[in-house]
Amino acid sequence: MKGFAGKVAVVTGAGSGIGQALAIELGRSGAKLAISDVDTEGLAATEERLNALGAPVKADRLDVTEREAFQAYADAVKEHYGVVNQIYNNAGIAFTGNVEVSEFKDLERVMDVDYWGVVNGTKVFLPHVIASGDGHIINISSVFGLLAVPGQAAYNAAKFAVRGFTEALRQEMLVSGHPVKVTCVHPGGVKTAIARNATAAEGLDRDELAKTFDKRLASTSPQKAARIILDGVRKNKARVLVGNDARALDVLTRATGAGYQRVVAAVTSRTMPH
Ligand SMILES: NC(=O)c1ccc[n+]([C@@H]2O[C@H](COP(=O)([O-])OP(=O)(O)OC[C@H]3O[C@@H](n4cnc5c(N)ncnc54)[C@H](O)[C@@H]3O)[C@@H](O)[C@H]2O)c1
Repeated sequence: MKGFAGKVAVVTGAGSGIGQALAIELGRSGAKLAISDVDTEGLAATEERLNALGAPVKADRLDVTEREAFQAYADAVKEHYGVVNQIYNNAGIAFTGNVEVSEFKDLERVMDVDYWGVVNGTKVFLPHVIASGDGHIINISSVFGLLAVPGQAAYNAAKFAVRGFTEALRQEMLVSGHPVKVTCVHPGGVKTAIARNATAAEGLDRDELAKTFDKRLASTSPQKAARIILDGVRKNKARVLVGNDARALDVLTRATGAGYQRVVAAVTSRTMPH
Protein backbone atom coordinates (compact mmCIF):
# COMPACT_ATOMS: atom_id res chain seq x y z
CA MET A 1 0.00 0.00 0.00
CA LYS A 2 1.32 3.47 -0.94
CA GLY A 3 2.07 6.24 1.53
CA PHE A 4 3.79 4.22 4.27
CA ALA A 5 7.28 3.68 2.84
CA GLY A 6 9.97 4.88 5.23
CA LYS A 7 7.44 5.96 7.89
CA VAL A 8 8.04 4.93 11.50
CA ALA A 9 4.84 3.34 12.85
CA VAL A 10 4.16 2.31 16.45
CA VAL A 11 1.56 -0.44 17.05
CA THR A 12 0.38 -1.43 20.54
CA GLY A 13 -1.22 -4.83 21.14
CA ALA A 14 0.72 -6.12 18.11
CA GLY A 15 0.99 -9.72 19.35
CA SER A 16 -2.42 -10.78 18.05
CA GLY A 17 -5.42 -9.95 15.87
CA ILE A 18 -5.85 -6.52 14.35
CA GLY A 19 -2.57 -5.17 15.80
CA GLN A 20 -0.56 -8.04 14.36
CA ALA A 21 -2.24 -7.67 10.96
CA LEU A 22 -1.65 -3.89 10.99
CA ALA A 23 2.05 -4.37 11.80
CA ILE A 24 2.51 -6.91 9.00
CA GLU A 25 0.61 -4.87 6.41
CA LEU A 26 2.62 -1.78 7.40
CA GLY A 27 5.85 -3.79 7.13
CA ARG A 28 4.84 -4.96 3.65
CA SER A 29 4.19 -1.36 2.68
CA GLY A 30 7.73 -0.29 3.61
CA ALA A 31 7.14 1.14 7.10
CA LYS A 32 9.60 0.77 10.00
CA LEU A 33 7.86 -0.78 12.98
CA ALA A 34 7.89 -0.38 16.75
CA ILE A 35 5.65 -3.13 18.09
CA SER A 36 4.63 -3.92 21.66
CA ASP A 37 2.34 -6.14 23.70
CA VAL A 38 2.03 -7.74 27.14
CA ASP A 39 1.91 -11.11 25.36
CA THR A 40 5.61 -11.61 24.58
CA GLU A 41 5.01 -14.90 22.72
CA GLY A 42 2.52 -13.35 20.32
CA LEU A 43 4.82 -10.36 19.95
CA ALA A 44 7.77 -12.61 19.04
CA ALA A 45 5.63 -14.26 16.34
CA THR A 46 4.82 -10.85 14.83
CA GLU A 47 8.49 -9.85 15.03
CA GLU A 48 9.50 -13.03 13.22
CA ARG A 49 7.05 -12.36 10.40
CA LEU A 50 8.33 -8.79 10.04
CA ASN A 51 11.92 -10.06 9.98
CA ALA A 52 10.93 -12.47 7.20
CA LEU A 53 9.58 -9.51 5.23
CA GLY A 54 12.84 -7.62 5.80
CA ALA A 55 10.98 -4.83 7.60
CA PRO A 56 12.91 -2.96 10.33
CA VAL A 57 11.34 -3.80 13.69
CA LYS A 58 11.83 -2.87 17.34
CA ALA A 59 9.80 -5.18 19.63
CA ASP A 60 9.20 -4.50 23.34
CA ARG A 61 7.01 -5.76 26.15
CA LEU A 62 4.76 -2.85 27.11
CA ASP A 63 1.62 -2.66 29.23
CA VAL A 64 -0.33 0.34 27.92
CA THR A 65 -1.76 1.04 31.38
CA GLU A 66 1.74 1.71 32.80
CA ARG A 67 2.12 5.40 32.09
CA GLU A 68 5.74 5.86 33.15
CA ALA A 69 6.88 2.83 31.18
CA PHE A 70 4.94 4.13 28.16
CA GLN A 71 6.72 7.51 28.42
CA ALA A 72 10.13 5.82 28.60
CA TYR A 73 9.13 3.60 25.66
CA ALA A 74 8.11 6.60 23.50
CA ASP A 75 11.47 8.24 24.13
CA ALA A 76 13.27 4.97 23.35
CA VAL A 77 11.44 4.58 20.02
CA LYS A 78 12.33 8.19 19.10
CA GLU A 79 15.96 7.52 20.08
CA HIS A 80 16.02 4.28 18.05
CA TYR A 81 14.56 5.58 14.79
CA GLY A 82 15.22 9.35 15.15
CA VAL A 83 11.60 10.13 14.23
CA VAL A 84 8.09 8.78 14.96
CA ASN A 85 5.36 9.35 12.37
CA GLN A 86 2.41 7.21 13.40
CA ILE A 87 0.96 5.51 16.45
CA TYR A 88 -1.81 2.91 16.29
CA ASN A 89 -3.34 2.77 19.79
CA ASN A 90 -4.78 -0.69 19.30
CA ALA A 91 -4.24 -2.76 22.50
CA GLY A 92 -7.55 -3.67 24.09
CA ILE A 93 -9.54 -6.14 26.16
CA ALA A 94 -13.19 -7.14 26.42
CA PHE A 95 -15.42 -7.89 29.38
CA THR A 96 -19.05 -9.03 29.37
CA GLY A 97 -21.40 -8.47 32.28
CA ASN A 98 -24.53 -6.54 33.16
CA VAL A 99 -23.89 -3.53 35.41
CA GLU A 100 -26.01 -5.06 38.18
CA VAL A 101 -23.70 -8.06 38.58
CA SER A 102 -20.32 -6.61 37.51
CA GLU A 103 -17.63 -5.81 40.04
CA PHE A 104 -16.05 -2.36 40.13
CA LYS A 105 -12.59 -3.85 39.48
CA ASP A 106 -13.75 -5.42 36.20
CA LEU A 107 -15.47 -2.22 35.04
CA GLU A 108 -12.37 -0.20 35.93
CA ARG A 109 -9.93 -2.58 34.23
CA VAL A 110 -11.68 -2.15 30.86
CA MET A 111 -11.46 1.63 31.21
CA ASP A 112 -7.77 1.38 32.23
CA VAL A 113 -6.74 -0.61 29.16
CA ASP A 114 -9.21 0.47 26.48
CA TYR A 115 -9.48 4.17 27.35
CA TRP A 116 -6.48 5.17 29.48
CA GLY A 117 -4.18 3.01 27.33
CA VAL A 118 -5.20 5.11 24.32
CA VAL A 119 -4.80 8.39 26.24
CA ASN A 120 -1.36 7.31 27.50
CA GLY A 121 -0.20 6.37 24.00
CA THR A 122 -1.53 9.57 22.47
CA LYS A 123 -0.01 11.86 25.11
CA VAL A 124 3.46 10.31 25.27
CA PHE A 125 3.85 10.13 21.48
CA LEU A 126 2.17 13.44 20.58
CA PRO A 127 5.32 15.63 20.90
CA HIS A 128 7.29 13.17 18.73
CA VAL A 129 4.51 12.87 16.16
CA ILE A 130 4.22 16.67 15.95
CA ALA A 131 8.02 16.98 15.59
CA SER A 132 7.98 14.50 12.68
CA GLY A 133 6.28 17.14 10.50
CA ASP A 134 4.10 14.37 9.02
CA GLY A 135 2.25 12.63 11.84
CA HIS A 136 -0.83 10.49 12.27
CA ILE A 137 -2.52 9.19 15.42
CA ILE A 138 -4.87 6.25 14.88
CA ASN A 139 -7.07 5.21 17.80
CA ILE A 140 -9.02 1.96 17.73
CA SER A 141 -12.52 2.38 19.13
CA SER A 142 -15.25 -0.07 18.07
CA VAL A 143 -18.70 -0.21 16.57
CA PHE A 144 -19.51 -0.28 20.30
CA GLY A 145 -18.19 3.29 20.37
CA LEU A 146 -21.13 4.19 18.11
CA LEU A 147 -23.92 2.26 19.80
CA ALA A 148 -24.34 0.61 23.20
CA VAL A 149 -25.59 -2.92 23.83
CA PRO A 150 -26.65 -4.83 26.97
CA GLY A 151 -23.80 -6.55 28.81
CA GLN A 152 -21.12 -4.22 27.40
CA ALA A 153 -21.50 -1.11 29.57
CA ALA A 154 -17.80 -0.92 30.52
CA TYR A 155 -16.57 -1.64 26.98
CA ASN A 156 -19.14 0.78 25.54
CA ALA A 157 -18.04 3.48 28.00
CA ALA A 158 -14.36 3.02 27.11
CA LYS A 159 -14.97 2.94 23.34
CA PHE A 160 -17.35 5.95 23.39
CA ALA A 161 -14.64 7.73 25.42
CA VAL A 162 -11.96 6.85 22.84
CA ARG A 163 -14.20 8.31 20.15
CA GLY A 164 -14.81 11.57 22.05
CA PHE A 165 -11.12 11.95 22.90
CA THR A 166 -10.02 11.22 19.33
CA GLU A 167 -12.58 13.48 17.64
CA ALA A 168 -11.60 16.38 19.94
CA LEU A 169 -7.90 15.74 19.26
CA ARG A 170 -8.41 15.79 15.49
CA GLN A 171 -10.04 19.20 15.77
CA GLU A 172 -7.30 20.47 18.09
CA MET A 173 -4.67 19.52 15.51
CA LEU A 174 -6.65 21.35 12.81
CA VAL A 175 -7.10 24.45 14.99
CA SER A 176 -3.46 24.57 16.14
CA GLY A 177 -2.11 23.87 12.66
CA HIS A 178 0.06 20.99 13.90
CA PRO A 179 1.06 18.58 11.11
CA VAL A 180 -0.79 15.65 12.71
CA LYS A 181 -3.73 13.74 11.23
CA VAL A 182 -6.07 11.89 13.55
CA THR A 183 -8.31 8.90 12.74
CA CYS A 184 -10.83 7.04 14.88
CA VAL A 185 -11.47 3.41 13.86
CA HIS A 186 -14.73 1.54 14.53
CA PRO A 187 -14.44 -2.16 13.70
CA GLY A 188 -17.44 -4.47 13.69
CA GLY A 189 -16.81 -8.16 14.45
CA VAL A 190 -13.26 -9.17 13.49
CA LYS A 191 -11.98 -12.77 13.73
CA THR A 192 -9.37 -12.32 16.48
CA ALA A 193 -8.63 -13.72 19.93
CA ILE A 194 -10.52 -10.88 21.64
CA ALA A 195 -13.47 -12.98 22.86
CA ARG A 196 -11.20 -15.89 23.86
CA ASN A 197 -9.03 -13.45 25.85
CA ALA A 198 -12.07 -11.76 27.40
CA THR A 199 -13.32 -11.94 30.98
CA ALA A 200 -16.93 -12.06 32.11
CA ALA A 201 -19.05 -11.48 35.20
CA GLU A 202 -19.58 -14.43 37.52
CA GLY A 203 -22.21 -16.88 36.32
CA LEU A 204 -21.58 -16.26 32.62
CA ASP A 205 -20.08 -19.03 30.49
CA ARG A 206 -16.96 -17.48 28.93
CA ASP A 207 -16.45 -20.36 26.49
CA GLU A 208 -20.02 -20.07 25.26
CA LEU A 209 -19.64 -16.29 24.83
CA ALA A 210 -16.39 -16.78 22.88
CA LYS A 211 -17.98 -19.45 20.67
CA THR A 212 -20.96 -17.22 19.88
CA PHE A 213 -18.60 -14.36 18.99
CA ASP A 214 -16.35 -16.55 16.81
CA LYS A 215 -19.26 -18.25 15.01
CA ARG A 216 -21.91 -15.56 14.70
CA LEU A 217 -20.42 -12.12 15.23
CA ALA A 218 -16.86 -12.08 13.88
CA SER A 219 -17.17 -11.71 10.12
CA THR A 220 -14.11 -9.75 8.93
CA SER A 221 -10.58 -11.22 8.86
CA PRO A 222 -7.85 -9.26 10.68
CA GLN A 223 -5.98 -8.90 7.36
CA LYS A 224 -8.99 -7.31 5.70
CA ALA A 225 -9.57 -5.11 8.75
CA ALA A 226 -5.93 -3.92 8.57
CA ARG A 227 -6.24 -3.10 4.87
CA ILE A 228 -9.46 -1.11 5.44
CA ILE A 229 -7.85 0.78 8.35
CA LEU A 230 -4.68 1.61 6.38
CA ASP A 231 -6.73 2.73 3.39
CA GLY A 232 -8.59 5.12 5.72
CA VAL A 233 -5.29 6.33 7.20
CA ARG A 234 -3.89 6.99 3.72
CA LYS A 235 -7.01 9.01 2.87
CA ASN A 236 -6.85 10.87 6.20
CA LYS A 237 -10.37 9.84 7.15
CA ALA A 238 -11.74 11.17 10.45
CA ARG A 239 -13.74 7.96 10.93
CA VAL A 240 -13.11 4.47 9.58
CA LEU A 241 -15.86 1.84 9.76
CA VAL A 242 -14.62 -1.76 9.38
CA GLY A 243 -17.04 -4.35 7.99
CA ASN A 244 -20.61 -4.42 6.69
CA ASP A 245 -21.88 -4.96 10.25
CA ALA A 246 -20.24 -1.72 11.41
CA ARG A 247 -21.66 0.15 8.42
CA ALA A 248 -25.18 -1.20 9.00
CA LEU A 249 -25.13 -0.42 12.72
CA ASP A 250 -23.84 3.09 11.99
CA VAL A 251 -26.83 3.64 9.69
CA LEU A 252 -29.19 2.26 12.37
CA THR A 253 -27.94 4.70 15.01
CA ARG A 254 -27.99 7.66 12.66
CA ALA A 255 -31.47 6.83 11.35
CA THR A 256 -33.09 6.15 14.71
CA GLY A 257 -31.19 8.38 17.15
CA ALA A 258 -31.75 7.05 20.66
CA GLY A 259 -34.44 4.77 19.18
CA TYR A 260 -31.82 2.11 18.36
CA GLN A 261 -31.85 1.15 22.05
CA ARG A 262 -35.39 -0.24 21.77
CA VAL A 263 -34.40 -2.24 18.68
CA VAL A 264 -31.24 -3.70 20.26
CA ALA A 265 -33.00 -4.51 23.55
CA ALA A 266 -35.80 -6.29 21.67
CA VAL A 267 -33.32 -8.36 19.61
CA THR A 268 -31.34 -9.20 22.76
CA SER A 269 -34.49 -10.32 24.64
CA ARG A 270 -35.34 -12.67 21.80
CA THR A 271 -31.86 -14.13 21.30
CA MET A 272 -30.18 -14.19 24.72
CA PRO A 273 -31.05 -16.37 27.69
CA HIS A 274 -31.91 -14.20 30.73
N1 LIG B 1 -12.14 -8.22 17.24
C1 LIG B 1 -13.18 -7.41 17.18
O1 LIG B 1 -14.29 -7.82 16.78
C2 LIG B 1 -13.05 -5.94 17.54
C3 LIG B 1 -14.15 -5.10 17.26
C4 LIG B 1 -14.06 -3.76 17.59
C5 LIG B 1 -12.92 -3.26 18.17
N2 LIG B 1 -11.86 -4.09 18.45
C6 LIG B 1 -10.70 -3.51 19.09
O2 LIG B 1 -9.53 -3.83 18.32
C7 LIG B 1 -8.39 -3.79 19.17
C8 LIG B 1 -7.56 -5.05 18.94
O3 LIG B 1 -8.29 -6.17 19.40
P1 LIG B 1 -8.25 -7.62 18.69
O4 LIG B 1 -9.62 -7.92 18.27
O5 LIG B 1 -7.15 -7.68 17.74
O6 LIG B 1 -7.99 -8.53 20.00
P2 LIG B 1 -6.81 -9.55 20.39
O7 LIG B 1 -7.17 -10.04 21.75
O8 LIG B 1 -6.61 -10.56 19.30
O9 LIG B 1 -5.53 -8.60 20.45
C9 LIG B 1 -5.40 -7.60 21.44
C10 LIG B 1 -3.95 -7.55 21.88
O10 LIG B 1 -3.83 -6.53 22.90
C11 LIG B 1 -2.97 -7.02 23.90
N3 LIG B 1 -3.22 -6.36 25.19
C12 LIG B 1 -4.25 -6.54 26.05
N4 LIG B 1 -4.09 -5.78 27.13
C13 LIG B 1 -2.92 -5.09 26.96
C14 LIG B 1 -2.22 -4.14 27.74
N5 LIG B 1 -2.67 -3.76 28.96
N6 LIG B 1 -1.06 -3.62 27.25
C15 LIG B 1 -0.59 -4.03 26.05
N7 LIG B 1 -1.20 -4.93 25.28
C16 LIG B 1 -2.36 -5.45 25.72
C17 LIG B 1 -3.28 -8.52 23.99
O11 LIG B 1 -2.22 -9.23 24.62
C18 LIG B 1 -3.47 -8.88 22.52
O12 LIG B 1 -2.27 -9.32 21.93
C19 LIG B 1 -8.93 -3.64 20.60
O13 LIG B 1 -8.83 -2.31 21.01
C20 LIG B 1 -10.37 -4.06 20.47
O14 LIG B 1 -11.18 -3.50 21.47
C21 LIG B 1 -11.91 -5.43 18.14
